[in-house]
Amino acid sequence: MRTWLLVVTLPLLLAVSPARAVEQAAVALEIQHSSAAATAVIGGLQEKINAGKATATDLAPEALRSAWHAAFQRLANRGFDAATEAPLVEVRAGMDRAFGQVIDTYRADIIKGGQDAFVPAFFRAQLFERFNQAMGGEVRAVTTNRRAELLNGDSAVDRLIQDSEIVAAISALLEKGATQSETRKFGNRTVGYWPMAIAQPCASCHERNGLKQQVGQFGGATVVIVGR
Ligand code: HEC
Repeated sequence: MRTWLLVVTLPLLLAVSPARAVEQAAVALEIQHSSAAATAVIGGLQEKINAGKATATDLAPEALRSAWHAAFQRLANRGFDAATEAPLVEVRAGMDRAFGQVIDTYRADIIKGGQDAFVPAFFRAQLFERFNQAMGGEVRAVTTNRRAELLNGDSAVDRLIQDSEIVAAISALLEKGATQSETRKFGNRTVGYWPMAIAQPCASCHERNGLKQQVGQFGGATVVIVGR
């Protein structure tokens, strides 16, 4: 009986582990594409928000979703609804819910607007908070930066991520300003790292908020941990 179980399960186990790694990396990438696209939609509304001119129409769920899905298509090179693998479908649903929740929570503030009243990074942090919770600990997505350039100390990597091995690896990438995206395995988990660069609007706004940076320089990273 025992031997039979081994004969049956061993090949299964061997077959499962590499497949699982691919799956985790695909989940991490889906989260990166989806959140970057959603954040780009909020980025596109900055002028209106800063001028107090964003309207209820701009924030209508259909308007936001169609802009979001178009941005996703540009980043991922496929339709928002195209993936049929269960973990990706789950990511899609979780992101959609989180996006809706953030907009509902901040709709009045966004419409009221004012200089830097609702910045992209704040939106993304709120999105990730709700999304991470909805995924029940299976994934953890955060956006952070090296210590010397944090606008918000709560976004320090060691505040957002508990695992000290992952914190050490990500800190090293951040401190050297690594500009290549990468995916690494940590035991049963896969960690994706997607760096950002400072463009003019980022530099102008960060300077208004007390942080001087150069256009083109490293501007932080989104980190996605998949698995427990
Ligand atoms: C309209 C203003 C504004 C724009 C535009 C903007 N940021 Fe920020 N950014 C902020 C503020 C304010 C925070 C702190 C938000 C918070 O956590 O409350 C922040 C936070 C961040 C963080 C999180 C870590 C930290 O410092 O707290 C990163 C990373 C970041 N910004 C990168 C960028 C990049 C890259 C761009 C351009 C592609 C950009 N930002 C555009 C205002 C802006």
